[in-house]
Amino acid sequence: MQVSRSSLSLEQAPPISVPFRFFITAPIFGLLAALLLLAYGPAILTNRWAPATLALTHLITLGFLGMIMCGAMMQMLPVLAGSPVPKVKPVATAVHSLLTIGTLALVSGFLSGITGLFHLALTALGLGFLIFIVAISMALIRIRTPNATIHGMRLAVASLATTVILGLTVGAGFSGMTSLSQLIPLTDIHLGWGILGWIGILVVGVAYQVVPMFQLTPEYPQKLTGPLNWVLFATLIIWAPLYLAWGGGQLPKWVPDTWILLPAVGYALFAGTTLWLQQKRRRRVSDITLLFWRTGMILIAACLLLWLTSFIPAAKNQPALPLLMGIWLLFGIATSVTNGMLYKIVPFLAWFHLQNRQVALMSMGKVKVPNMKELMPDRLAQRQLYAHLATLLLLTLAPFWPNPFTYIAGLSLGASCILLLLNILQAVRRYQQVNQALSDFESSR
Ligand code: HEM
Repeated sequence: MQVSRSSLSLEQAPPISVPFRFFITAPIFGLLAALLLLAYGPAILTNRWAPATLALTHLITLGFLGMIMCGAMMQMLPVLAGSPVPKVKPVATAVHSLLTIGTLALVSGFLSGITGLFHLALTALGLGFLIFIVAISMALIRIRTPNATIHGMRLAVASLATTVILGLTVGAGFSGMTSLSQLIPLTDIHLGWGILGWIGILVVGVAYQVVPMFQLTPEYPQKLTGPLNWVLFATLIIWAPLYLAWGGGQLPKWVPDTWILLPAVGYALFAGTTLWLQQKRRRRVSDITLLFWRTGMILIAACLLLWLTSFIPAAKNQPALPLLMGIWLLFGIATSVTNGMLYKIVPFLAWFHLQNRQVALMSMGKVKVPNMKELMPDRLAQRQLYAHLATLLLLTLAPFWPNPFTYIAGLSLGASCILLLLNILQAVRRYQQVNQALSDFESSR
């Protein structure tokens, strides 16, 4: 099936509660991350291996990003590709609850060191991701003529499976359930697959579809969309054994570190193309999602430059730089892009379901379905964008001057997540009001 705007499938969409529970949970985890910054203060941004830092990382990677990405995929496959996730309601309930319990247990495990919490975390996360991966894979396999977005989703899910297996392995090693000789290299490979595979490849694949559709840009050139995801995936497959060989003392570190420049350049190429397409968009009105995306794309280039500085001997012993890299990758790029996407996905889905119901009831002229801007007003989204950008700036300063910037960044992150939550809830409330009006119309006939 060739996926295009005209093939958006109305009938196959799952109930709106399926994606929305994930989208509402994400900013709550973001808020917990803000509270952690405030509670632990400067110590959290001075060493990437500190337990509180690992807890913070997973509140963002599993709690914020994972929730949005899993929820969006369950929704996008049926709507964009006409391939519904089997048994989507029980699957969504199981995945959402297991990931929520697992993430809370993992974070509490990092903070307290209690082994029982790691047992619970590994079981719940392992099971939650297993159900998600199996269900999504069934929907992905059914698509007969996949385009670049579907290929991207398939490779992203394979990367997620790799990240989770490695996460469970390092989790067992970290908590003392098993002894691992290569804990640090395995952790780096886990984070490499998580960030450059699962998050990165999904963002690239989804961008091919949603950037032209929502930001009204020309299509991505096929010369890029055809090979890029495969190249990114293949470079990670080769990088992992190179990194393990370094861990085992068989290779110098510069070999895997230089190799990883290949996917980094691939991502920079994607970012440059996205910025160029955004410049050429048809309607040049200001758009909040576009500004979130632009921030993310500029930071991809910044990360590449930062990685290059790690080859300079003087920068090697600077502990702030790996932290800054983590902040830019997870907060600057991944969070900006997914947060920005919510401002299209949430009002689009609300509008899409209401419109669909209005047509089915033939209630045009009786009940007015609000448009996307009415469901998610720009001024609300803009306020949150400013809070997000302020947080990004403060988090960029925090590794160099942890005191006072960690605290101010914590406050700013908290404000940003509260605003995001309120904005989503306001769209949900508006949706419920109009949906109720449609139900009233239906019963009055
Ligand atoms: C089953 C799910 C997961 C589990 C059990 C898990 C577990 C862990 C553990 C135990 C560590 C620390 C290892 C050590 O200190 O040696 C770690 C590090 C890390 N994980 Fe995960 N993880 C999971 C999923 C993810 C996902 C989906 C991502 C997405 C990107 C991710 C990103 C990271 C990062 C970036 C680090 C390094 C943090 C740092 O350097 O401060 N994890 N993970």
